[in-house]
Amino acid sequence: MKVILKSRHANIQKGGENKMKYSRIILTLGVVTFVLAAATLITSWAAEDVRNSKHNLSTNPDILATGTTEVCVFCHTPHGGDTTVAGGAAPLWNRNLSTATYTVYTSPNFDAAGTTPGTPKGVSVACLSCHDGTVAFDSLFNFGGSGSTDTINFTGPYVDTDNTFKETDRSAGGPSPYPNLGTNLSNDHPISMEIPCTTDPQFSEICGHIDTALLTANKVSPIYRGAVSTLPTDKRDQLRAYPSVAGKAYIECASCHNPHENTSTRFLRYPSFVGTSDEAAVGGASALNADRNAGSLLCLSCHQK
Ligand code: HEC
Ligand code: HEC
Ligand code: HEC
Ligand code: HEC
Repeated sequence: MKVILKSRHANIQKGGENKMKYSRIILTLGVVTFVLAAATLITSWAAEDVRNSKHNLSTNPDILATGTTEVCVFCHTPHGGDTTVAGGAAPLWNRNLSTATYTVYTSPNFDAAGTTPGTPKGVSVACLSCHDGTVAFDSLFNFGGSGSTDTINFTGPYVDTDNTFKETDRSAGGPSPYPNLGTNLSNDHPISMEIPCTTDPQFSEICGHIDTALLTANKVSPIYRGAVSTLPTDKRDQLRAYPSVAGKAYIECASCHNPHENTSTRFLRYPSFVGTSDEAAVGGASALNADRNAGSLLCLSCHQK
């Protein structure tokens, strides 16, 4: 970028010329820094603030855990966590997992690639340890303090005294039954399948960008259509494929959702249309932060429809 600054002082003395140049450079640097800082502000959306999200079970009025003020404890523990959940994609995991058998997604069009597609794998297993409604919210390995005693109770709309409070109890008559997906996942967006790159042309653009080297190294690969410059700069905002099966690009719950996010509702990641006319057409970054699927751009970040 070329920044031209014109001096309003027409007559500069000789001695002052160098000083002027110097201060021009400083001013130019200052302007460039400001522009870069502004650009960072504009293109950096991730606001992970789990304390102020519905995932803070200690303050969420629908749950209101007592006996702890901790936030992370319902999902992570600093010591003795399960590192095998999702090959570590759900790090230092503190929850017992569901043992449910699921009814998985199917359809005549479903290209269903991968190992037993639809059977929850990877990081989805971590989400379902609350969202299938079969595991109590306080079914943890480590509790706060000395660790092994369950001191947690719930005082939201459903007072729980027997430590079995779970999503099904709330949805039995609760104010917001939807977060309980249940064990029938056939009516939910499919998960835990490999992106069917060889059989389904609607994914040719995202497939062209899958970073197999990252997946092979057990890292997530960003998902985007157009140019790489349309990706959100903060990788926590990027839709991603998980290596649920070694080296393969799998769609999981956390491909679309970020469990710590609270910029918008629904814990959604940001669509990969940054700086495009599609983004502008739905009202730009501020509109997409309020509703990250505005104009269905989240769906369109994967599906060429
Ligand atoms: C409701 C469950 C839940 C709560 C509460 C939660 N996390 Fe997580 N966290 C997850 C899941 C699931 C993942 C893996 C998903 C992913 O890849 O983003 C994760 C991933 C992480 C990661 C690794 C990914 C990264 O972005 O670096 C860190 C670090 C982390 N959590 C820290 C925390 C801390 C600290 C807290 C409390 C302040 C917390 N989490 C609260 C569920 C939770
Ligand atoms: C992160 C990528 C991604 C995002 C975002 C995404 N999808 Fe999908 N979707 C897929 C993949 C991969 C499949 C599996 C297609 C297959 O195997 O045939 C799929 C399957 C589907 C199917 C079933 C297709 C069939 O053949 O039965 C529908 C319908 C669908 N998606 C709609 C949506 C909608 C609506 C949204 C937005 C709310 C959305 N998707 C967001 C990747 C994505
Ligand atoms: C510790 C249990 C727990 C885990 C683990 C968990 N959630 Fe949640 N989730 C909740 C609770 C509790 C709510 C809020 C329910 C309510 O207030 O109605 C919620 C709400 C949500 C919502 C709805 C937000 C809204 O505004 O309506 C989404 C989306 C969600 N979770 C996705 C996920 C995903 C994806 C994962 C895994 C990456 C996950 N959750 C892991 C307990 C959990
Ligand atoms: C392909 C992207 C995608 C995947 C994969 C996905 N979701 Fe979602 N989910 C969404 C979108 C988009 C919404 C917002 C729908 C809306 O606001 O109407 C949503 C909404 C939700 C809600 C809130 C429902 C409501 O109406 O309050 C929950 C809970 C949820 N998802 C949990 C999960 C869990 C758990 C998984 C994995 C088993 C999962 N999601 C997988 C895209 C996805």
